[in-house]
Amino acid sequence: MSGHVEIESTIFVIFGAAGDLAWRKLVPSLCNLHFDKYLAERLAIIGMDQKAMSDEEFRTRMQEGFNRFSGRGLSAGQGWNGFGEHLSYFVKEFDDPSAYALIAEKIEEKSKEWNSRPQVILYLAIPPGIIPTVVQHIIKARLALDRKRVRIVVEKPFGRDLESARALNRTLSAGFEERQIFRIDHYLGKDTVQNILAFRFANVLFEPIWNRRYIDHVQITMAECVGVEHRGAYYDSAGALRDMMQNHLLQVLCLIGMEPLVSFDAEEIRNKSVDVLHAVRPIPSSGIYRHEARGQYDAGWLQGKHVKGYREEGGVSPESRIETFAALKIFIDNWRWQDVPFYLRTGKRMPYKASEVSIQFRPVPHQSFPASAIGNWLPNRLIIHIQPNEGILLKFQTKRPGLTMHLSQADMQFLYRDAFKVKPHDSYETLLLDVVHGDPTLYKRIDHVEAAWTILQPVLDHWDSTTPEDFPNYAAGTWGPEVAEVLIAQDGRRWFPPTVDQVGECEGTD
Ligand code: BG6
Repeated sequence: MSGHVEIESTIFVIFGAAGDLAWRKLVPSLCNLHFDKYLAERLAIIGMDQKAMSDEEFRTRMQEGFNRFSGRGLSAGQGWNGFGEHLSYFVKEFDDPSAYALIAEKIEEKSKEWNSRPQVILYLAIPPGIIPTVVQHIIKARLALDRKRVRIVVEKPFGRDLESARALNRTLSAGFEERQIFRIDHYLGKDTVQNILAFRFANVLFEPIWNRRYIDHVQITMAECVGVEHRGAYYDSAGALRDMMQNHLLQVLCLIGMEPLVSFDAEEIRNKSVDVLHAVRPIPSSGIYRHEARGQYDAGWLQGKHVKGYREEGGVSPESRIETFAALKIFIDNWRWQDVPFYLRTGKRMPYKASEVSIQFRPVPHQSFPASAIGNWLPNRLIIHIQPNEGILLKFQTKRPGLTMHLSQADMQFLYRDAFKVKPHDSYETLLLDVVHGDPTLYKRIDHVEAAWTILQPVLDHWDSTTPEDFPNYAAGTWGPEVAEVLIAQDGRRWFPPTVDQVGECEGTD
């Protein structure tokens, strides 16, 4: 996010380089950054994983990922342009100390070849269960010693509850200083998520009404049409609460709920985010059902295709109790938000992909218009489209054309694609560049991670200890289980269907 400092040489070590993340996101993003000249010319990307592959096979796979996911590549008539020469791969078990000795050797070799000490980014694109082992080996092999040049990126979920997050942090702190640890939440790399700050604090119009006096409630939805894809084994030990709610949804809650920033300084932004989490009213364990709803998808129809149920997916237990849908009702106990409910929901295999924040304003304090004019009257609603149709929509009342006074809702819309004529770039590009420059603004501090787990802990405990008798409880291709409707209906409200104007094709339906 900050200005760029000249970096002479960089080495990325990707642990878990044979997995989906390196293929879909990391290498295509690094490639784009390289082509746009954001990275040092002296660049090496060393992949390591347990799957046997030669350097050439690794390069071919990564090139295929670049062509499919970078927005450039063959489809855009642009070649790989020899990027493969920056890539190498080796196969080792993650608990084999010789793997880490080899990495140290490779770094040494490159330093000699380049005649400079490179920046080293250690990227953990591995399942959460093996992160502690890998971190311990990294530390033992003395790979973390250069405080200024070595950084480690840890993918979410960071731990699987409060206790394990603290334990993981202890493991990391044994060899890394906090400023070297970059806990990633890729939602923070999205322009539309950062734009929440711009929208709120670079404009004078909205801040005065951004509070309990004018806002009735807020809905945050992150709906996906994909199922668990190739990640059944991981997902079946995580579920929607750990996979999405603990990080992406609570992060967006922070940006919507935070107090105005004093400066655009990393610690200021992180402090203001954590303040929101600390103000969240603890979810009570008695009567918890009034605050949460969970679901698991069954077979169903999506975009005209039949798709299987969660329990039939690869890597998933046929009796799985894991939720693929989670909804929560949250309150923020402070002057700004007292008693304004925030409804959060996320799910897989929903009708289409849409992430958005819907801010429902209160009714006007007094209706001046006659009953005959206000048959269609609705209070204002502001919708922040995180994706797709990136932009902002304001629903407001207008007089319909005609000889009599009739009110009707109309839209005022800002769309990134029309205003700036560019496609949004991938959030990983922003975040990878930030870690190269050592800028932690968009990465999570440990107190943020812990505060987020603290909020969810009562729900995690409840869900881990009770069997959801009704699972699977929603058909693929629907907006989730009935219990989620009840969660919001008990307050006399309803979920708004996400308002996308173009429904993208759902990957993974076949
Ligand atoms: C990841 C989750 O963090 O976010 C995935 O692990 C999910 O399960 C993905 O599919 C969604 O990200 P995006 O950017 O496509 O909304």
